[in-house]
Amino acid sequence: VNDPDCKHLIPMNPNDDSLFKSLADDILLCKMINLSEPDTIDERAINKKKLTPFTISENLNLALNSASAVGCTVVNIKGKPHLVLGLLWQIIKVGLFADIEISRNEALIALLNEGEELEELMNLSPEELLLQWVNYHLTNAECLFSSPNQIAPKGGEDGPAIAIDLSGINEKNDLKRAGLMLQEADKMGCKQFVTPADVVSGNLKLNLAFVANLFNTYPCLHKPNNNDINMNLLEGESKEERTFRNWMNSLGVNPYVNHLYSDLADALVNFQEFDTYPALVWQLMRRYTLNVLSDLGEGEKVNNEIIIKWVNQTLKSANKNTSISSFKDKSISTSLPVLDLIDAIAPNAIRQEMIKRENLSDEDKLNNAKYAISVARKISAWIYALPDDLIEVKPKMVMTVFACLMGKGLNRIKNHFT
Ligand SMILES: *[C@@H]1O[C@H](CO)[C@@H](O)[C@H](O)[C@H]1NC(C)=O
Ligand SMILES: *[C@@H]1O[C@H](CO)[C@@H](O)[C@H](O)[C@H]1NC(C)=O
Ligand SMILES: *[C@@H]1O[C@H](CO)[C@@H](O)[C@H](O)[C@H]1NC(C)=O
Ligand SMILES: *[C@@H]1O[C@H](CO)[C@@H](O)[C@H](O)[C@H]1NC(C)=O
Repeated sequence: VNDPDCKHLIPMNPNDDSLFKSLADDILLCKMINLSEPDTIDERAINKKKLTPFTISENLNLALNSASAVGCTVVNIKGKPHLVLGLLWQIIKVGLFADIEISRNEALIALLNEGEELEELMNLSPEELLLQWVNYHLTNAECLFSSPNQIAPKGGEDGPAIAIDLSGINEKNDLKRAGLMLQEADKMGCKQFVTPADVVSGNLKLNLAFVANLFNTYPCLHKPNNNDINMNLLEGESKEERTFRNWMNSLGVNPYVNHLYSDLADALVNFQEFDTYPALVWQLMRRYTLNVLSDLGEGEKVNNEIIIKWVNQTLKSANKNTSISSFKDKSISTSLPVLDLIDAIAPNAIRQEMIKRENLSDEDKLNNAKYAISVARKISAWIYALPDDLIEVKPKMVMTVFACLMGKGLNRIKNHFT
């Protein structure tokens, strides 16, 4: 809300098409994605000034490719309000649910029911965990009305006390009671997302958002000191696993994959070795990535060697002084070969003054990598890799970056979503 690029758009009138007008230059969409998954979009890659239809479409590419990379199922939304809303909801959910995950928030263990194994709790989706959280607090409070009272800080380590007025609980009119309940939630800064009418009508998405917001603000859970719990189970997913999961979700697998292993266990009964599963997913991702390049003509099959050769040639013919010897080439950690390649296939997309070329500190490398990935998405390359994949030169992910750029360079993908 305090963002200078969005100030003029807020508050929006919910009763007209302000939302769609505000989204028209796609800057707001980029900002929302970045709020839901911090640091997904590099500010420097967003076109903000002297917008033209072309630069606006670049912003849209950046937004859609980034949304896809954080696991949203994306279709071309241009001029289709209901699809815009669907995408917005997915983006908001990514942010709201980010911390409703046991490995990220161990206090959630407090929700373990009598006789329930930690593993069962860990396999729950964020929606199911939220429901369990609500029920946990309602065991001590009688209805949703008093839930703000149950979780509001009472002073002490949870923060300054907030006094919740429960007198509204006796209000007979549903709508009025919901209004009074939201008044109390407002004291905790948690009134967002819903109106009394939404509460009463049981609007699923909005009430889910309301409850998730309550959870994120005042979870009011304390990790039990229970020695029976096997904490080794709590190891969070690796970045690579997360990328695989986002990739699957962006392809629209149904149901949504919250946990790479347990959610797909049924589909995996034939794979004796769970260990081979991430390799398996990687094979699929590789095939999928290379599909855009599958037909280079004359029956030539794409392999790493061909991609590297194409990268070197393209860099050379654009008079760049970078090159790569393999996808493990240490120079990739500077992101300079990627940035130069983008400049070679989409002149003017890169602002050279944003790049640091010499004596790179770790921070400079991170800045180059973030910028490279955002600009690649802006020129409509469908990139899943994270900045760390470039900095740490993870060969598999590095391969997908160059393969996607080759697809773009050869004009195989005009735009993934149109
Ligand atoms: C995205 O988030 C990061 C970290 O929160 C912030 O530094 C950056 O400026 C944000 N970029 C945009 C485009 O909002
Ligand atoms: C790419 O260029 C580097 C450096 O010039 C060279 O060592 C490497 O052999 C080249 N690789 C291919 C496949 O062209
Ligand atoms: C490589 O090219 C860049 C400009 O594209 C230049 O700034 C840099 O000094 C060059 N590096 C070398 C080693 O020639
Ligand atoms: C990079 O470091 C070298 C040696 O430390 C120094 O001579 C050179 O001026 C530095 N270059 C830049 C652009 O800071």
